[in-house]
Amino acid sequence: MTEKHGDVLVLFGITGDLAKKMIIPALYHLVARGELTVPVIGVALTDYDDDGLRAHMADSVRAAEAAAGTEVDEDALARLQKSTRLVAGNYSDPAIFGRLADAIGPDAFAVHYLAVPPSLFGTVADGLAGVGLHTRSRLVVEKPFGRDLESARALQAKLAENYPEDRIFRVDHFLGKEPVEDLLILRFANTLLEPLWSRSWIDRFEITMAEDFDVADRGSFYDAVGTVRDVVQNHLLQVMAYLLMDAPLTDAADDQRDAKSRLLRAVRALDPAEVVRGRYDGYLGTPGVKDDSTTETFVAATFHVDDWRWAGVPVHLRAGKALPETLLDIVAVLKPPPRALFGRDGARPDRIRLRLQPQAGLTFSLLAKRPGAGDVPVDLPVSVDFREVLGPVHAPYERIFADALAGDPAHFARMDTIEQAWRIVMPILDPGTEPEPYAQGTWGPEAAQTLPGPQGWEPLPHA
Ligand code: BG6
Repeated sequence: MTEKHGDVLVLFGITGDLAKKMIIPALYHLVARGELTVPVIGVALTDYDDDGLRAHMADSVRAAEAAAGTEVDEDALARLQKSTRLVAGNYSDPAIFGRLADAIGPDAFAVHYLAVPPSLFGTVADGLAGVGLHTRSRLVVEKPFGRDLESARALQAKLAENYPEDRIFRVDHFLGKEPVEDLLILRFANTLLEPLWSRSWIDRFEITMAEDFDVADRGSFYDAVGTVRDVVQNHLLQVMAYLLMDAPLTDAADDQRDAKSRLLRAVRALDPAEVVRGRYDGYLGTPGVKDDSTTETFVAATFHVDDWRWAGVPVHLRAGKALPETLLDIVAVLKPPPRALFGRDGARPDRIRLRLQPQAGLTFSLLAKRPGAGDVPVDLPVSVDFREVLGPVHAPYERIFADALAGDPAHFARMDTIEQAWRIVMPILDPGTEPEPYAQGTWGPEAAQTLPGPQGWEPLPHA
């Protein structure tokens, strides 16, 4: 069943913000490349009719292409519009599911994509089951999957009433990012990195996910969530699993997910004493943010992995909004060589930098001889920019939709990894204490600067 290709794509929440900004432009790109050939049914509570929805889709595509500075392929847009129809109504009204069943037809296998608030996931799943659609469909749910371990399990129990695990795909759009997927290729399709990738040679890791913008108009969403739930529990723990897991037995989806799960099981639950929570100045004035909010907009934390490979190797991570730049960057700091030759004493250690965004790339920071007299080592970055060499990547939602239709679960989060991720962050959720202040455009609160040690964080290339 898992690999059954969808005959129709049903998009719940087609008039919502996520659909407008991400999903519709992704569907358009898939149509343009000939990778989306099945009909699309949009479902929403809306006054639009079919034509109104098609005009809305055109607006969304034109805005996204204008922002990217690319021309709209009018033929592809027309094909997407022509293949889309609308079923409008309220999800709590069973009649909408009857109309949806008629639109899908008696035999088609549907892929239901739920770009709706998580409080509606159960309602939609029940509605689909009410008209028998659950027996011939796959459910794809957006994040967040729960607010903590208990609510994630409750949501899972609800969905499991009608859908088996192999037909529930949980979206984490970072798993659809090509540079994130590339972590596995770089590590396991080569021999070079893997022998270094353990406590024998690596001293510590530093992971930075920085965003140079504030929460803007997402105040009420963000205030109920905070940085830990917004990007650490989901995106960054999935990235960390790819970075640190053992080689999967094969490249089959469940072997990859088994390897990730095993790694996350070894990650110790966070110790609040090794965590700094921050809030940028001015956050409390954001529309939608409560006056007495204690939500964090920044977090720095040290993770420990209690397994054979990583015992004693800390993983320092920081993430936040209103920081100096926007990037996702991983640095592996290697141990120094056994003897300090060539005046290397006190020199910076070798580093391997994996840059995931904005421009994916890889840099080995080595020491080489400075030209001229004497043996004087100087820093020599050996670097490659993947985009320059390999060309642009596809957007994550393109990958997500193509895989959801094809039934490939590799780049979706399995329930056991979601449960582990909640277990890891649980001790630092909602402590009810004031986060430490930081000025916008800085690297977070003072206390976060020395989390990796007195030497601070490794300098970032553009910082
Ligand atoms: C989302 C978060 O899941 O991921 C946002 O809700 C965050 O707050 C975003 O900005 C980051 O994703 P991307 O793809 O823009 O790096």
